[in-house]
Amino acid sequence: MKWQASAPSNIALIKYMGKSNREQNIASNPSLSYTLEHLRTFIEIEPLESAESRWEPLSMPDQPVLELSPKAIQRFLNHVEFLKKQFDYSGAFLIRSANNFPSDCGLASSASSYAALTKAMVRALCDLTQSALPSEWQQADWSRQASGSSCRSFFGPWCLWQGERIEPLELPFPKLIHQAIVVDHERKAVSSSEAHVRVATSLLFAGRTERVQQRLQSLLSALDQSNWAQAFEVCWHEFWDMHALFETSMPAFGYITARSMNVLEYVRQIWREHQRGPMITMDAGPNVHLLYRPQDKDLAHQIERSLKPEYYILSHYELD
Ligand code: DP6
Repeated sequence: MKWQASAPSNIALIKYMGKSNREQNIASNPSLSYTLEHLRTFIEIEPLESAESRWEPLSMPDQPVLELSPKAIQRFLNHVEFLKKQFDYSGAFLIRSANNFPSDCGLASSASSYAALTKAMVRALCDLTQSALPSEWQQADWSRQASGSSCRSFFGPWCLWQGERIEPLELPFPKLIHQAIVVDHERKAVSSSEAHVRVATSLLFAGRTERVQQRLQSLLSALDQSNWAQAFEVCWHEFWDMHALFETSMPAFGYITARSMNVLEYVRQIWREHQRGPMITMDAGPNVHLLYRPQDKDLAHQIERSLKPEYYILSHYELD
């Protein structure tokens, strides 16, 4: 018996940063994401005659072999145990996983990994215990407890996560071109889980929830009215706000490098010249994510041509 599942990654435009409950990953503020259907994790699981579950890379033709640190494997297996408890099941599993994007390029894989793991495990546990399949919402809620951002990977193309609510949103722009400009693929000195804790020490953290609420409303209304320039502006403010929290934490830390700045400056220049361009955001890392409307494909090609000699770029143009 084998069960398989796959789940996409997602990129937040309104960021989840800071937790009101660390054990259950309750976010201090709402977040809004766009689902990256092309960046996926694949999981295969089977029962194992052993006292403990085990992880190993899944080999898939033409896909890179996934490498996980012992700490990451343990965190993954902890979630397996958590899900087993929900079904009162005690057997062990062999879990295999792969990403269809390089694991060393510094792109977040925890969202797609935990969403895929939750989906596969839930299917297996339902079959093995003859239980009814829980709702997508319930699965997203369990996944959130392993890694917050993974709950948004259950719904697309837009997903709003607010408190205990995780919901798909009907917004214009269901299909966007995506580019990840990989600035640096070194391991991060401060993980995003650690960043969530540290930002609470920043003096700027006090008004964060209110600022995010306001930005969420302006982004939703910009998208609703297809006001792309305003959407760009809000996303720009939002990722700088999050990175300002990092730099004003005690002790301060940060991810933006001179190479990230070159990309940001170049994209800003594109907006000035053409009065249009991509939405731009950065996670807890130095890499830059760009999202383009289909009609701005020419600019996506232009930006890719200009940055390619210096940066590794992961692009996705096919919108069908
Ligand atoms: C900066 O979901 O990785 O990417 O819940 O501790 O696993 P944990 O954190 P994680 O945080 C992601 C933070 C972010 C912003 C976002 O995706 O909203």
